[in-house]
Amino acid sequence: MALNQEITAYIKRLYPEQNPVLLHCPEFLGNEKKYLAECIDTKYVSYIGRFVSDMENKIKEISGAKYAVALVNGTAALHMLLLAVGIQPGDGVITQSLSFAATSAAIVHAQGTPVFVDVEQDTLGMSPESLKSFLKKYTEIIEGKCVNKKTGKQIKAVIPMHTFGHPVRIEEIQTLCDEYSLILIEDSAESLGSFYKKRHAGTFGKAGIFSFNGNKLATTGGGGMVITDDEAIANRVRYISTTAKRPHRWEFFHDEVGYNLRMPSINAAVGLAQLEYFDKTLENKRETAHLYQQFFASIHIKFITEPNNAKSNYWLNAILFDDRKQRDGFLEYSNENGVQTRPAWTLLHTLPPYQHCQHTDTPNAEYIADRLVNIPSSVRI
Ligand SMILES: Cc1ncc(COP(=O)(O)O)c(C=O)c1O
Repeated sequence: MALNQEITAYIKRLYPEQNPVLLHCPEFLGNEKKYLAECIDTKYVSYIGRFVSDMENKIKEISGAKYAVALVNGTAALHMLLLAVGIQPGDGVITQSLSFAATSAAIVHAQGTPVFVDVEQDTLGMSPESLKSFLKKYTEIIEGKCVNKKTGKQIKAVIPMHTFGHPVRIEEIQTLCDEYSLILIEDSAESLGSFYKKRHAGTFGKAGIFSFNGNKLATTGGGGMVITDDEAIANRVRYISTTAKRPHRWEFFHDEVGYNLRMPSINAAVGLAQLEYFDKTLENKRETAHLYQQFFASIHIKFITEPNNAKSNYWLNAILFDDRKQRDGFLEYSNENGVQTRPAWTLLHTLPPYQHCQHTDTPNAEYIADRLVNIPSSVRI
């Protein structure tokens, strides 16, 4: 109890202007209102107008990716991307059990079949060892394709997720993907501003995605982005998410069944303004993480820090308790006393829609799910 009180009081001191202290509250500190007014005054409120392409260009600048396509949210970005890389009904797609439900939902939206592997305790992201042992035991390469021995179906892609902004051991995952002819796609929804060996998260594989949901470092209210160096993938994502309409000044001709999932200009206007001071946001987030790190070291609670070779955006700070009972005690106390906290997601392979899916043993994911608590991480003004 004394420990719960001490942590809760510390968090309140970090965020004196918030009551209750929220997990991640957006701040609008730049040109957001001005750009929104510009949308309304110019009447460019759908995806046409300068803001969508300006925001895409800003994301290219930040991430170093050659192409960026803005969509209505991160889930849609992952869905469109999976279709664009050629996921066909029944194709296997490997991801990690500890992730937000959008990762596996997008696989199912694209009619793929999720397979879940374990995570690591330090990065909280996909474990290369778990992936390797799954591939070794359950797959074989037949005519250049990775085939699941259990189902006879092709496994086409692997989606690691950079949990809470902490980069996974992406190079080892990339090597395995190359060895097994698998397409690497990064769910970098949470990791805008995170780097692995000085290279931005989301730029290692064929493509990556970002989310600009209200709780992210930069928000558009709701929004997402596909990033890639592959022009054909970028064009395909843009095409199918813009109703698959052949460009023409007045004709409406659609080659195939498309989607209507482009980001509207109004959202991009807010996003562009947010990205204009993204460096400061990132600096502020890292400062807060540093303060938390010192505080939790002083009370002997494990605080999750950026992995080796990585620079994390510290999107959501996280601590680990000794066991589930202690975790639950803290969740109860903090939420009742004006500090919003939450546990890790329920492991995906245990959720009703995915219980039938193939998965490896997940001792690390279970360890984390029992102990982890996310604590308030908003930008401190
Ligand atoms: C890991 C992960 N993937 C995908 C998404 C989906 O993004 P959105 O909420 O923008 O649809 C999120 C959202 O927060 C996420 O955390």
